[in-house]
Amino acid sequence: MLSATLFLSFAASALAARPFLNEPDTGSVQGASANWLARIDDALAGFAANRTLPPLENIIGLPDFEWAARNVIPIKNYTYYRNGAAGEWSYRNNLEVFSRFRLRPRVMVDITNIENTLNTTILGQNFSAPFYISPCARADYAHPEAEAGLVKAAAAGNILYMPALYAHLNIEEIAAARPENGTTFQQVYLNANDTATAEIFKRAEAAGSKAIVYTADSAADGNRHRALRYGVGSADSSYTPSSWEYYKKLQTMTTLPIIIKGIMTVEDAQLAVDNGAPAIVLSNHGGRQLDGSPSSLEVALEIHEQAPGIFQKIEVYADGGVRYGADALKLLALGVKAVGIGRPMMYANAYGAEGVLHAINILKKELALDAGNMGVADLKKIDASYMKWNSAASNGWYSR
Ligand SMILES: Cc1cc2nc3c(=O)[nH]c(=O)nc-3n(C[C@H](O)[C@H](O)[C@H](O)COP(=O)(O)O)c2cc1C
Ligand SMILES: *[C@@H]1O[C@H](CO)[C@@H](O)[C@H](O)[C@H]1NC(C)=O
Ligand SMILES: *[C@@H]1O[C@H](CO)[C@@H](O)[C@H](O)[C@H]1NC(C)=O
Ligand SMILES: *[C@@H]1O[C@H](CO)[C@@H](O)[C@H](O)[C@H]1NC(C)=O
Ligand SMILES: *[C@@H]1O[C@H](CO)[C@@H](O)[C@H](O)[C@H]1NC(C)=O
Ligand SMILES: *[C@@H]1O[C@H](CO)[C@@H](O)[C@H](O)[C@H]1NC(C)=O
Ligand SMILES: *[C@@H]1O[C@H](CO)[C@@H](O)[C@H](O)[C@H]1NC(C)=O
Repeated sequence: MLSATLFLSFAASALAARPFLNEPDTGSVQGASANWLARIDDALAGFAANRTLPPLENIIGLPDFEWAARNVIPIKNYTYYRNGAAGEWSYRNNLEVFSRFRLRPRVMVDITNIENTLNTTILGQNFSAPFYISPCARADYAHPEAEAGLVKAAAAGNILYMPALYAHLNIEEIAAARPENGTTFQQVYLNANDTATAEIFKRAEAAGSKAIVYTADSAADGNRHRALRYGVGSADSSYTPSSWEYYKKLQTMTTLPIIIKGIMTVEDAQLAVDNGAPAIVLSNHGGRQLDGSPSSLEVALEIHEQAPGIFQKIEVYADGGVRYGADALKLLALGVKAVGIGRPMMYANAYGAEGVLHAINILKKELALDAGNMGVADLKKIDASYMKWNSAASNGWYSR
């Protein structure tokens, strides 16, 4: 008892000493007398006071969008987006894991062409950058245009958008809002009803979707304490049957490639290869489903160590906690082909398409700046030698 109490008091003081920050404290101002401002709360205090959106030129990085959205949307709406499972340790770990691994920047490299090397292909489709908008339900919680803002901005920024099946707008409405040059991959939840599945696949094909994204990480409802306080739990709430045989059957039901989203171990990545998946997404669903599940960086490292050939055999994407250019670069260095951005895009949509495009442009700029400072001349040539893989650090639950 005594030792448990002691341990808890140490743990509490460690947390107090190093609190978790939703938004970064990039230079804090202690007290109102300071005559220089750097922290979001100080710099944008007027907008906090009158609860309005700051102009986009005040939005410096992706985390700022969370601050801005929280300022103007109802707490219930914000909570649906912000939610993580249970104690939210996986949610935090998704963000903090990036700080546990150092880069190995090289110097004396001509990187002046880096901006022209961000373009990539994702399952054969051309995009301007190796990141995309992850499927997130209910975009109407931040903006009346809902998913229209996301699909328009993705096309304008020439990146991929994966609409969620449980979006506010339906498959056809999102396709109608998609500019002619936009590309979407339709996310689906399926429940072993072949008639319903065939209908969804047919609608996705007719809507011009270039791939299906089958979410496999939500076999049970998410254990979402924060969300339950406001009655905004998961949109997908039943125990859902699935199997690799089922996946094989799904492949016969559509002409579209079926990406498996939510791979969290090297074993399942290998099984995806064995079962003919063209691509997988390493993801713990933004830490919303199972507290204790690994971040995609940890899974990418596991694959890198135990079966690195997987990165060549199929396309591997990853999402969760990517907020800065260097976060994305750490995943790309391990062999990930593209990274997904979830919450920041939903928060950016508080501004509508203009905000989402601003988010896209911020991340493109950061990718180029950070790759340049790493001595990467051509983003397509980034590899694991640019990263220091420290297996001890991977065991840290959160950064210390
Ligand atoms: C509000 C919200 C809704 C989501 N809805 C879905 C969904 O319907 N289907 C799905 O596969 N993933 C869903 N996700 C998970 C995202 O696709 C993605 O894995 C996650 O948001 C990435 O982490 P990030 O938010 O830290 O970037 C959702 C995430 C959020 C934040
Ligand atoms: C809210 O505050 C900001 C920052 O002080 C100011 O620029 C803006 O005009 C204010 N908006 C309204 C509607 O009061
Ligand atoms: C990227 O763009 C260049 C032209 O700027 C083109 O030659 C190259 O094929 C493109 N690469 C990919 C992967 O799309
Ligand atoms: C992608 O771009 C290349 C040229 O870089 C072009 O040959 C190819 O047709 C494009 N693919 C698609 C699917 O548009
Ligand atoms: C909050 O979410 C509801 C849907 O539950 C939506 O109708 C409303 O417009 C949202 N509020 C804002 C400010 O986006
Ligand atoms: C789509 O067209 C818009 C407007 O011309 C352009 O800004 C954008 O870059 C294009 N996107 C793609 C995917 O080509
Ligand atoms: C399966 O889906 C179809 C089409 O949506 C529906 O009509 C049917 O009732 C469903 N069957 C079961 C057993 O739920």
